[in-house]
Amino acid sequence: MATADTNGVKLYYEVHGSGEPVLFLHGFPLSGRMWQAIVQPMRDAFTLIIPDLRGLGRSPATEGVSMATYVDDLVGLVRVIGETRPITLVGLSMGGYIAFEFVRRHADRLRTLVLTDTRAENDTPEVKQNRIDTAERVRKDGSRVVADAMIDKLFGPQAPTDLRTRWRDLMADTDPDGVIAALTAMRDRPDSRPLLAEIRVPTLVVVGADDAITPPNTARVMHQGIPGSQLEIIPGAGHMVPLEQPQRFVDVLTRFLKG
Ligand code: MLT
Repeated sequence: MATADTNGVKLYYEVHGSGEPVLFLHGFPLSGRMWQAIVQPMRDAFTLIIPDLRGLGRSPATEGVSMATYVDDLVGLVRVIGETRPITLVGLSMGGYIAFEFVRRHADRLRTLVLTDTRAENDTPEVKQNRIDTAERVRKDGSRVVADAMIDKLFGPQAPTDLRTRWRDLMADTDPDGVIAALTAMRDRPDSRPLLAEIRVPTLVVVGADDAITPPNTARVMHQGIPGSQLEIIPGAGHMVPLEQPQRFVDVLTRFLKG
């Protein structure tokens, strides 16, 4: 819909609706398209700000990306669109990792926080090595490597085949340089568990009951660590709650944001 010149990149983004601003951060290696189904039911009550993160979806890739780079991109985007009110951040998986970095650097800009299908823990040595190996394979064989490796873990058993096929194709189409940059940024991210007790904004933790990547136990770590947080476990969904159970996701999100 539009691009914002921010932090040295032309970031693709969409803005829908009006009301309190809510900034949606997608997972890896996905795009803002993953929030499509929630736009219509939420646009009358909220301003929905939906970027494609640097190097993913329709935003161009660069080298040398860290969680801080993504945060600087977002702060610039918010400035470009002239949004000065405190923001609600909704981060799914890698979007949650970025949300933690946002809390570290700009807690004063936040109104509320929604952590969906994500984790506070950083990568174990095995996962770090796997990121390095995956980046090598993507460099050689392209993003299909990641699409093929992730597709079965991304969705719960009830997800329809056409949803899986669509997202396998979208992931496979992602710029390999953006995929490699994101793998590196995730590998190097800090442990966010020490941050949990410091989070002062109202926080909702959401997880699909069948999430195989960040299962309900990782959501409980965040819920138990963040003072006063709420936890919602969504039945009939895996790692992609907003795509698999959009209406349930909208219901819990709206109830929380209006509460
Ligand atoms: C995601 O969905 O963003 C990724 O699975 C996160 C990760 O690889 O740690």
